[in-house]
Amino acid sequence: MRVQDKVVIITGAANGIGAATARIFAREGAKIVAADINRQDGERLVQELREGGAEAIFVEVNVAEEASAQRLMERTLEAFGRIDVLINNAGIHRDGWLVKMSEEAWDLVIDVNLKGVFNCGKHAAKVMMDQGRGVIINTTSVVGLYGNMGQSNYAASKFGVIGLTKTWAKELAPRGIRVNAVAPGYTMTAMMDTVPEKILSAIKEKTPLKRLGEPEDVAYAYLYLASDEASYVNGAVLSVDGGFVIG
Ligand code: NAI
Repeated sequence: MRVQDKVVIITGAANGIGAATARIFAREGAKIVAADINRQDGERLVQELREGGAEAIFVEVNVAEEASAQRLMERTLEAFGRIDVLINNAGIHRDGWLVKMSEEAWDLVIDVNLKGVFNCGKHAAKVMMDQGRGVIINTTSVVGLYGNMGQSNYAASKFGVIGLTKTWAKELAPRGIRVNAVAPGYTMTAMMDTVPEKILSAIKEKTPLKRLGEPEDVAYAYLYLASDEASYVNGAVLSVDGGFVIG
């Protein structure tokens, strides 16, 4: 068991990469706090994890609101008494060309993807500093490394997540907290539902491994970074993209 008895908060756990992560971490012995804005799917997932023998709770959260993020940490402490790992996985996109992008689409994506990571990181770090140990894993994207047409808001948020990751890796390491990021490539979740088949084929073709990512591909990267195997890894951005962005 690679994360035996560790208390792991996963934001955006109700679907996609977050749900795959919750299942894999539960199998590896973690106590799961599945945090999501979607109560129905989140509670269904937690039920499934419990039926499989895991300790798990669902906490409804809107990561974009600081008070909600703070409550998430409080609920975790009430249930499990500590926070070993925070995986800032929740994220959304509202794509559009620069000149057509509304202020609302800009604000929403920045609020969830960037401020959400700040909110949860800030309140988890307070707890982890008191503990003298902890791990924070943030989720960026290939788009956060190289940009992408039609994704000004998403790209800015994901570049920002890398900034937070590197800053916290410096600021929190002396307090026993490691901070890293994972940069998924195109991964088959609901987030890809709106991408036309023609584009998916082109992405596959451009990827040296000739396939799209599965949610589990990203979950296993989170697992490595969360585990003690990564105890000397800090401030890294681990790409999980089949080699899409090489060169
Ligand atoms: P998804 O859409 O399948 O799941 C996202 C989850 O986040 C959902 O359960 C949703 O309810 C939750 N969520 C949305 N807004 C929230 C909020 N304000 N507070 C709390 N929870 C909220 O997405 P997916 O694909 O699993 O993405 C997970 C992460 O991976 C995101 O940060 C995304 O940007 C990133 N990513 C995904 C890629 C992909 O191709 N699927 C590629 C690169 C990065």
